[in-house]
Amino acid sequence: MLLWSSALLVASLVATTTAQLEPQCCEKLLSSASPAVEPFLALLGVTIPIPPVDLGICCKPASVSGCDSNCTGGIAVTCAGIPVSVVGVDIGLDCTPIPPCPPPCNTLSTTTSQLFGSGVGDAFNDLTTFIGNGTVTTDDVPSIKAITFRFGTVIDGLAVTYAQGTSQDLTTIQHGTSLTTVDSGLMNSTLTLGTNETIIAVSGQTGNHSPFGIRVLQLTFTISNSFTGASRVAGPFGSATGKAFTVAGNGTLVALGGNAVNTNLSLNQLQTARGGLYGLSFITTNGTDCPQ
Ligand SMILES: *[C@@H]1O[C@H](CO)[C@@H](O)[C@H](O)[C@H]1NC(C)=O
Ligand SMILES: *[C@@H]1O[C@H](CO)[C@@H](O)[C@H](O)[C@H]1NC(C)=O
Ligand SMILES: *[C@@H]1O[C@H](CO)[C@@H](O)[C@H](O)[C@H]1NC(C)=O
Ligand SMILES: *[C@@H]1O[C@H](CO)[C@@H](O)[C@H](O)[C@H]1NC(C)=O
Ligand SMILES: *[C@@H]1O[C@H](CO)[C@@H](O)[C@H](O)[C@H]1NC(C)=O
Ligand SMILES: *[C@@H]1O[C@H](CO)[C@@H](O)[C@H](O)[C@H]1NC(C)=O
Ligand SMILES: *[C@@H]1O[C@H](CO)[C@@H](O)[C@H](O)[C@H]1NC(C)=O
Repeated sequence: MLLWSSALLVASLVATTTAQLEPQCCEKLLSSASPAVEPFLALLGVTIPIPPVDLGICCKPASVSGCDSNCTGGIAVTCAGIPVSVVGVDIGLDCTPIPPCPPPCNTLSTTTSQLFGSGVGDAFNDLTTFIGNGTVTTDDVPSIKAITFRFGTVIDGLAVTYAQGTSQDLTTIQHGTSLTTVDSGLMNSTLTLGTNETIIAVSGQTGNHSPFGIRVLQLTFTISNSFTGASRVAGPFGSATGKAFTVAGNGTLVALGGNAVNTNLSLNQLQTARGGLYGLSFITTNGTDCPQ
């Protein structure tokens, strides 16, 4: 019995090129040169192959569909020949692991712009409000559906409506002067994004507007329709001038960050008191960042 097996093992080790390749699911792979195997081969009277080959131990035929080898808990391999039963253990000869499927890639790379305006007030980041500090994926990335601006000469506050998650539930997050603030000098304009529309660029003005200090003075948005290819401009919201900025070229705006103190008063009502929107940063994604 042992002799028969070793003869077959020798034959298989030698005749590797003519043997048919078939996927196997083996419990482990051992080099024919490993200390655990070499004495065993020697005992069987098998010539130690040079260079060494990998032997699959306890192999069973595996079903392979694409890159999925259906070999949970084992190692999927192709061996140069049908496994040989040596003392009841099926040993695959000259086995090469089948590469596993690459992990599904749905992670998005995001870029956060610098802060425009001032860092006074409480910092906010709407993206981490939704998904924490974890990886952003196509499943949990928020999308902006509307932004309502409360503004006079400068931007007092804004409220962003996001759709997020598999259910695409809508959430509105306010920053600075609230939507319900009543001040006849305070305008109330909503930028609404239609189906297939995303914000691809933001430009604006920041600067010191007495007596309110450094603020976001103006915002203008470029909106692109991924279906028609058309683009449109919304704004400017606010009219004061200072230092111009543009954020563009990094894909789609997915969320706002910045600094604000939430209040039910306009900047004009607050005068020098703390409150309203102070600064904004823009969080964009340019799509998945998967290895090619
Ligand atoms: C995977 O292997 C198990 C057990 O060998 C088998 O029942 C199942 O049908 C296989 N699945 C596929 C997709 O081949
Ligand atoms: C994210 O990380 C920052 C600092 O790295 C921390 O201050 C903040 O609490 C974290 N946010 C969440 C939602 O985990
Ligand atoms: C401003 O607009 C928002 C949304 O369009 C609305 O909810 C809010 O009541 C408006 N505020 C005022 C004072 O008109
Ligand atoms: C949005 O884009 C999809 C294709 O991506 C298209 O089938 C659909 O008609 C578009 N909807 C509108 C309202 O433009
Ligand atoms: C775009 O992203 C790159 C790298 O992530 C960054 O260096 C650059 O400042 C970004 N541009 C803008 C306008 O935010
Ligand atoms: C604004 O007014 C609303 C309704 O009166 C109140 O619930 C909210 O707490 C107020 N917000 C601030 C920041 O004072
Ligand atoms: C997105 O931007 C990052 C950083 O700038 C870059 O490494 C990556 O290749 C970009 N991905 C796409 C799909 O453009």
